[in-house]
Amino acid sequence: MPRSTDSMMGAKPKNIKKAASRILADFRPLLGTFIFVIIILLVSATLSVLMPVLLGDFVNDFKNLATQVEGVFVINWPEVFKQVIIMFSFYVGSALLMWLADWIVVKISADYAYNIRAKIKGKLDRLPLSYFDKHAYGEILSRGTNDVDNISRHMSSIINQTILGVSMFIGVVIAMFVTSWELALVAIAILPFTILFTVLIAVNAQREFKKFRAHLGKLNSITEENYSGFKIVKLFNKESDVAASFEQVNEIMMKADWKSQWLSGFIFPTMRFIGNLGFIGVSVVGGILENPGNMVAFFLFLQMFQQPFQQIGQISSIIQSVLASGERIYDLLDEVEMELEPSDAINSEDGIKGEIVFDNVEFAYTIDKPLIRNFNLKVNTGDSIAIVGPTGAGKTTIVNLIMRFYDVNSGRILLDGIDIHNYRRGVLRGAVGMVLQDTWLFSDTIRENIRYGRNDATDEEIEEAAKQAHADHFIKTLPGAYDFVLNEDGTNISQGQRQLLTIARAIVSKPKILILDEATSSVDTRTELAIQDAMNGMMIGKTSFIIAHRLSTIKNAKVIIVMQKGQIVEIGNHQELLANNGFYADLYNAQFSGRNPLAEPEAENGNETQKAI
Ligand SMILES: Nc1ncnc2c1ncn2[C@@H]1O[C@H](COP(=O)(O)OP(=O)(O)OP(=O)(O)O)[C@@H](O)[C@H]1O
Ligand SMILES: [Mg+2]
Repeated sequence: MPRSTDSMMGAKPKNIKKAASRILADFRPLLGTFIFVIIILLVSATLSVLMPVLLGDFVNDFKNLATQVEGVFVINWPEVFKQVIIMFSFYVGSALLMWLADWIVVKISADYAYNIRAKIKGKLDRLPLSYFDKHAYGEILSRGTNDVDNISRHMSSIINQTILGVSMFIGVVIAMFVTSWELALVAIAILPFTILFTVLIAVNAQREFKKFRAHLGKLNSITEENYSGFKIVKLFNKESDVAASFEQVNEIMMKADWKSQWLSGFIFPTMRFIGNLGFIGVSVVGGILENPGNMVAFFLFLQMFQQPFQQIGQISSIIQSVLASGERIYDLLDEVEMELEPSDAINSEDGIKGEIVFDNVEFAYTIDKPLIRNFNLKVNTGDSIAIVGPTGAGKTTIVNLIMRFYDVNSGRILLDGIDIHNYRRGVLRGAVGMVLQDTWLFSDTIRENIRYGRNDATDEEIEEAAKQAHADHFIKTLPGAYDFVLNEDGTNISQGQRQLLTIARAIVSKPKILILDEATSSVDTRTELAIQDAMNGMMIGKTSFIIAHRLSTIKNAKVIIVMQKGQIVEIGNHQELLANNGFYADLYNAQFSGRNPLAEPEAENGNETQKAI
């Protein structure tokens, strides 16, 4: 189950006050603009509230505007027009002001989204890799996209509807009492029912809606797992299990979906029903009071009076989800960042020679699980070092530390005698060419994938690198050759071919230090030997680290270090290590005899190797 699901779908903020204050703090510089918007909306609401009053007066005055002269009605048209135009301009004025407010708030929201996205992007660049170990990519991505979008999209409706709703409600109540207190009492009598039903329906609808959202997350992960692991599901004949869990979640969702839709759909007719009761009440009392103008005004008041309540349910859930989005965004922005680079950090690769020293390095990914301990190693400029050891021994971790993907907990790593903390990260990484077992290619041409190693590489250099990596041959068999477009993750070529491309990419980048971590694990032995040959040429004068499980790959390395449980247990060249008859000799013999030393109990292995040193 992806780690993201729960947090992504949680529509409720954990700490409402904190989330709200953070969002508001970001808008504080715009306080003046917001006050302006509030004033505009207040004027707009006042114009809307005055409208029924004018209409009521117009109806009551109508007998003065239309006089009966000798049995014929004479209408005072100029006066009628005047009044109609006044009323009309009130409507238009109110609408125009509302549009203006909307325009301003939408503009503010778009600016906010732009800024916050830039902040998130900057933040992601400054976060340590360990953050990405703990959070699923989907979740991080969703903060930068969905959550930002959620805030900016709903900002205008929240601001406008809240201000307008509140001012309209207060305005209408005042206007009603000023117009006729008796009718006002009748209209207000329906208020408790309106509130009761709205709240009741909204709360229930929201509960179902939340259920729906929670299960949507589950359904997504079932679908995702099913299709991403689609071969495995088929291999183990798990289609029916997957189908059953899909069916179960799908059914819960269907029920929650229709219940929430049905309940929310219920709000409007219910309100209308209660509203109609109000109309009847106003008609009856209005009839008794014999004031048709006031009745007309009240019919309009009643409508306006109900509007804010219709929006309450909707707005409250929107506010909640906006706060939850804000909380997720600010949580991300508050994460501890990578250590700052010192201002005098070395910022050029030019002088780098490539001597690497590990000085009593200790490191753990998680505090309670120490991994690298007491690690000391000196690699002279131009030396090639092979690292071998069982799975999980910490070989890749050593690479991660050199690249500063993770920082050591104690001890130092020195490059040319200077702590790697004193280099700019970009410089350090730029100086190292790295080829990993997990190839990373993107959806573009082969040429661009290789050029990724160095942006200004020419086409000739790219082809030359591909030749050295023994990739040229297979590339030429593809339609379009170097212009062949890889699909996402490069799955339209074989895994071994993908490795060859990443090797070509590393060659093109002309690194000072080369790291090959299981770089040739997926190519056949013949190609591997050929690449080895090319690599040997390329590695001359370059410090290189070669990690490989296939010992034939590293047999010729000048120094081989054998790692186990985060420590160096043996060190020497191939002959020396064989003579040592320790863990390396065991591993080596096993690869030819078929015996597996890793299958033997760890303790025994450990002792054996300890003795061997
Ligand atoms: N990002 C990570 N977060 C937490 N633990 C990790 C992380 N990466 C590796 N580990 C743990 O650290 C230990 C060493 O891992 P490492 O990748 O260095 O092994 P390795 O020697 O390269 O193994 P392999 O030969 O399988 O590539 C393992 O126990 C692994 O589970
Ligand atoms: Mg590894």
